Amino acid sequence: MTMSKKTAIIYSFHTQKSKKVSEKIVDIYGKSEIEAVNAEEVNKAVLEKYDNFILSAPTWFDGELPNYWDEFVPDLEEMDLKGKKFAIFGLGDQKGYPENFCDAIGILAEIIKDCGGNVVGHTSTEGYTYESSKAQRGGEFIGLPLDQENQARLTNDRIKKWVSQLKKEF
Ligand SMILES: Cc1cc2nc3c(=O)[nH]c(=O)nc-3n(C[C@H](O)[C@H](O)[C@H](O)COP(=O)(O)O)c2cc1C
Repeated sequence: MTMSKKTAIIYSFHTQKSKKVSEKIVDIYGKSEIEAVNAEEVNKAVLEKYDNFILSAPTWFDGELPNYWDEFVPDLEEMDLKGKKFAIFGLGDQKGYPENFCDAIGILAEIIKDCGGNVVGHTSTEGYTYESSKAQRGGEFIGLPLDQENQARLTNDRIKKWVSQLKKEF
């Protein structure tokens, strides 16, 4: 019997918009196939338990990770994430913060890559308008930016497309 790979989605249970979007991702992914973990309680044991991760990284403070991720980063930097796959999405506001659009996705991706993790779920920059973004690598985003402030109507389709991509890449 082959063991199926375990997948977790990690987001702050205390956010409004990120939580709602994360719940939508769980619905589309399939409730029985993914487990939700509160980002505010994430620890090394959680990262050891799963093979695949979807991480929610909304951008705050003009281009930074929210506090709950920041607090966990020192632990994360000590870990060996080899063999594990990470897909990162993040809420941001391309009109309000065009110079730091969804920077948190790129910041978290760098940390994960430095620890040997594999960042999957890259997406096209088409359809977004911004000046600069740490989420952009070459001609694409290293994760999935979602903009509930300006493009909420596009979110559902963006999630559906991304989830089917992840099912192939995980
Ligand atoms: C104080 C503040 C700073 C923000 N800074 C950025 C930013 O630098 N880049 C960006 O893309 N969005 C930025 N945003 C927009 C948020 O990422 C966006 O509102 C998001 O939906 C918040 O999600 P959450 O409430 O689930 O954490 C900022 C919002 C606030 C209130």
